[in-house]
Amino acid sequence: MRNLKLSYLFVIMAFTITGCCKHNENSLAISSPSNNINVDFFLDDNGSPNYAIAFLGENIIDTSAMGFEFLDQPQMQSGFEIIETETSSVNEEWEMPWGEQRMVVNNYNVLIVKLQEEQPPKRKLNVYFKAYDYGIGFRYEFPKQNGIDSLFIIDENTQFSLTDDHICWWTPGDWDIYEHLYNTTKFTDIDAISKRNHYGLAQTYIPENAVNTPVTMRTDNGIHLSFHEANLTDYAGMTLKIDKENLSMTSELVGSDRFDYKVKRALPFVTPWRTIQISENATGLIDSKLILNLNEPNILGDVSWFIPKKYMGIWWEMHIGTKSWDMKSGKHGATTENAPKFIDFASKNNIKGLLIEGWNTGWEHWIGFEDREGVFDFVTPYPDYDIDKVVAYAKSKGVEIIMHHETSGAPRTYDKQMDTAFALMNKYGITSVKTGYVGKIIPKGEYHHGQWMVNHYRKVIETAAKYNIAVNAHEPIKATGIRRTYPNAISREGLRGQEFNAWAQDGGNPPEHLSIVAFTRMLAGPIDFTPGVFDIKLPTKENNQVNTTIAHQLALYVVIYSPIQMACDLPENYEGNCAFDFIRDVGVDWEQTKVLNGEVGDFVTIAREERGTGNWFVGSITDENSRDITINFDFLPAKVSYKAMVYKDARDTHWDNNPTSYELEELIVTNDLTKTFHLAEGGGLAISLIAQ
Ligand code: NOJ
Ligand code: CA
Repeated sequence: MRNLKLSYLFVIMAFTITGCCKHNENSLAISSPSNNINVDFFLDDNGSPNYAIAFLGENIIDTSAMGFEFLDQPQMQSGFEIIETETSSVNEEWEMPWGEQRMVVNNYNVLIVKLQEEQPPKRKLNVYFKAYDYGIGFRYEFPKQNGIDSLFIIDENTQFSLTDDHICWWTPGDWDIYEHLYNTTKFTDIDAISKRNHYGLAQTYIPENAVNTPVTMRTDNGIHLSFHEANLTDYAGMTLKIDKENLSMTSELVGSDRFDYKVKRALPFVTPWRTIQISENATGLIDSKLILNLNEPNILGDVSWFIPKKYMGIWWEMHIGTKSWDMKSGKHGATTENAPKFIDFASKNNIKGLLIEGWNTGWEHWIGFEDREGVFDFVTPYPDYDIDKVVAYAKSKGVEIIMHHETSGAPRTYDKQMDTAFALMNKYGITSVKTGYVGKIIPKGEYHHGQWMVNHYRKVIETAAKYNIAVNAHEPIKATGIRRTYPNAISREGLRGQEFNAWAQDGGNPPEHLSIVAFTRMLAGPIDFTPGVFDIKLPTKENNQVNTTIAHQLALYVVIYSPIQMACDLPENYEGNCAFDFIRDVGVDWEQTKVLNGEVGDFVTIAREERGTGNWFVGSITDENSRDITINFDFLPAKVSYKAMVYKDARDTHWDNNPTSYELEELIVTNDLTKTFHLAEGGGLAISLIAQ
């Protein structure tokens, strides 16, 4: 064991260069540590690179091609020979500063294939494979080479060939927003174009029949696959173009209308990892740490200045229409007068943060305006918001204000003010910011998920890190595990969040939403979903409601992982409701996580042990179907008894007819207990287990 300078990082590492494991000149193979996954790489008769994957001896990814198209040179697709190969193995363990679990095992085998064109100009391309027991990652390297200083990539053509017409959980390949409902169809029924008519606060651009990642699939014999990418750095986000005829997907990078290329890079450089999670069952997808492990270790060092926390917000009122972000409306939410109600409630209830949106000038010129450059100001409060006073009062009550920066899709304006804005946060002792990117990106022609914006989002993370500031981005670039490298990338939206229940014209998120999200979007990283609505029927919104029961809302604090979890409803809707005790008690930072059961889109049950207390919390949610869930408490340590409080749907609870009814049950639980609980339609179950 090597004790690295960073005391929280313990690394046990075995690294061996074992040389090449060639089958023959043009074909190579690599296996995962336990040999359940086998990857073949080969050059075909045209010298074109291909790979294929087997899982437990069966083909799971058929022969799939690799290649690139460039603006100013011929494509790289064929004519290669293998000039060198390397293999190695790594088995290490690292510690997360906060997370779903403390220690992460990182155990994989590596194959590096160095390719060169046989004919002049003899360009070079390296392919790196990492095989884990729960999936594979591969990436391309464009090494330093004569005659090429930089590349203008028109597209990357990485293929993912399926073995059958699998069931898929997908969202459309939107270049601007991930806030779509998941669709459940056979692969050959994927129709992203039909999703163009999307309603939301934000913009949307779906150029073709492609899907966003993570996209999750199930084969006929129950094997689960999820396709995504890891370490998206200085490159365009990847969508996957659907080829129904050949049952395959091909990478389609997000582009820009300003340029004829999608990615511009100086050599040498590496692409993001293309990832395929593979599991015998649905729960294995959540257990997998593939995406995180494919990222580089923490480069920020000590990040103890950020503490995982629950938070409230002057926020939900705006979404349900009783308050506004701007001042002009006469119902401004972010006021000196309105804040103490939230601060007092949070302070009494173990909630350490308060997000205040609409505190700064610019909101009169937000949604619907094209000319949003230079409009938002990130240091000037509205006159009815005394920031000194609110921050000081919050501090006196042990609550930290969470800063809000809505850029309105004008990143250049934000860029100019970022340092001043972060310095202001330092002045107030504010350690986290929620950012937002509602609206078409300015300059015109850029999209949220293209290389230009990927670099902007990263610059925000890097600049924030210099000021010891943590970032929760809304309308973000997708999570690809960079929180390992930059732990201050604490959470993000990047899905249809709770807010859609307040105003979506399509009836909001259906009861099944989160039991799909847990096996799709959540595989990418922490989610700021903002759970906790108790006033489910939203009396001020005639056509909207939350489509779950209260117990389901509670369960989300455990099911959905994020080091910041909002209690999004208003204090008056929590006051006096015993169900709130669960939100008060539940942890946000975990020693370990056990996914107890689940099927994509149907149900999922997760147990997590809180760091530092030894308390456990269990969350279980179901879709529109009621079901009985049996929990075996054998995940608890032996010989410890826990005082359990069970928050469960009553027999007559129903997400639509009777969503707010629930029952409490007090139990003493030890690890030999097995017990069945009833979940209503759209229902849930939340259990706190406090060690005695
Ligand atoms: C959209 C975000 O998702 C939401 O949480 C926020 O309140 C608004 N933008 C305003 O920034
Ligand atoms: Ca949003």
